[in-house]
Amino acid sequence: MAEPILQVRDLVKHFPLTRGILFKRQVGAVRAVDGVSFDLHRGETLGIVGESGCGKSTVAKLLMNLERPTSGQILYKGEDITRLSGRALKAVRRNIQMVFQDPYTSLNPRMTVGDIIGEPFEIHPEAAPKGSRRQKVRELLDVVGLNPEYINRYPHQFSGGQRQRIGIARGLALNPEIIICDEPVSALDVSVQAQVINLMERLQNEFDLAYLFIAHDLSIVRHISDRVGVMYLGRIAEIGTDAEIYDRPTHPYTQALLSAVPQPDPEARDTRERILLSGDVPSPANPPSGCRFRTRCWKAQDRCAEETPLLAVPEALAKAEDGAAHASACHFAEVKDVVHAA
Ligand SMILES: Nc1ncnc2c1ncn2[C@@H]1O[C@H](COP(=O)(O)OP(=O)(O)OP(=O)(O)O)[C@@H](O)[C@H]1O
Ligand code: SF4
Ligand SMILES: [Mg+2]
Repeated sequence: MAEPILQVRDLVKHFPLTRGILFKRQVGAVRAVDGVSFDLHRGETLGIVGESGCGKSTVAKLLMNLERPTSGQILYKGEDITRLSGRALKAVRRNIQMVFQDPYTSLNPRMTVGDIIGEPFEIHPEAAPKGSRRQKVRELLDVVGLNPEYINRYPHQFSGGQRQRIGIARGLALNPEIIICDEPVSALDVSVQAQVINLMERLQNEFDLAYLFIAHDLSIVRHISDRVGVMYLGRIAEIGTDAEIYDRPTHPYTQALLSAVPQPDPEARDTRERILLSGDVPSPANPPSGCRFRTRCWKAQDRCAEETPLLAVPEALAKAEDGAAHASACHFAEVKDVVHAA
């Protein structure tokens, strides 16, 4: 396979926890992202799933340079962009854009759609000479399935799905190679979700885009992703192709997540096992030692508290030919049939 367009290596983001009003002192840290590594290839979609608070949006913000990492590397075409600044950083940033979750708050209500979509040209004037910008914005409206005549309208004159199309057009304006999508359809009605997902898939083929697609809906992630990473408390628990993760999950957390997805087929519902997770997600300010999932894992043993499982293909499964041989951060990884989305 060709060199990944983006390589994330041991990415860490700790938010300091402070106490005191006048003399702030640090009393700890929220380990929002705590050693995340993955690759993203040209034209592919990597889905990221996990419960609320596991660090998905923080990963997105680190990739977008909206937060500085505590440590770790983000390599774009082999170059560490966490160390870039000034013009070099700006040049790279053009190629990595974002589509946000909430199309209601992410579009400035006082700006016209034309100004919103054309805004990236203000930061990167070299992308479109001044005289050509209106025309470019019209083309972008057309590309995302909106009438180019709407260029002077305001966001409130559009529906939620149309607003997300505007957000996507803005993300496309600079002709990026990578789009980070943080829950891009979660705020939309189910019927509209499918339209926006179809649009994103069409644009991906047309422009050879790589997507990092963050969502908590496991069925949507399976539908759009080539590979999927499952996050738990700031780390990746398991990562593989969509078939590996959905049909041959080996990490107990993935198995529990999948077993919680409603199963429409009654026969499959009866024959497969349902796993109920006990307890709450621990605080990322004070994560469990060893394996972070151990306080909720039905398979936990002493070793799990002492030794942190690494994200790698488990030795016992390395030779499996049924899809079980993929990276899983569990000392006792094994395939388990669980009720899961078709
Ligand atoms: N600026 C910040 N300061 C302190 N803590 C933060 C900050 N941003 C995020 N956190 C904490 O980091 C953890 C991860 O948050 P993040 O928003 O990345 O989760 P998420 O997976 O996107 O969740 P959700 O599914 O709810 O969007 C949470 O415990 C959150 O409270
Ligand atoms: S390492 Fe132990 S606690 Fe963690 S998921 Fe595997 S069995 Fe469960
Ligand atoms: Mg989030």
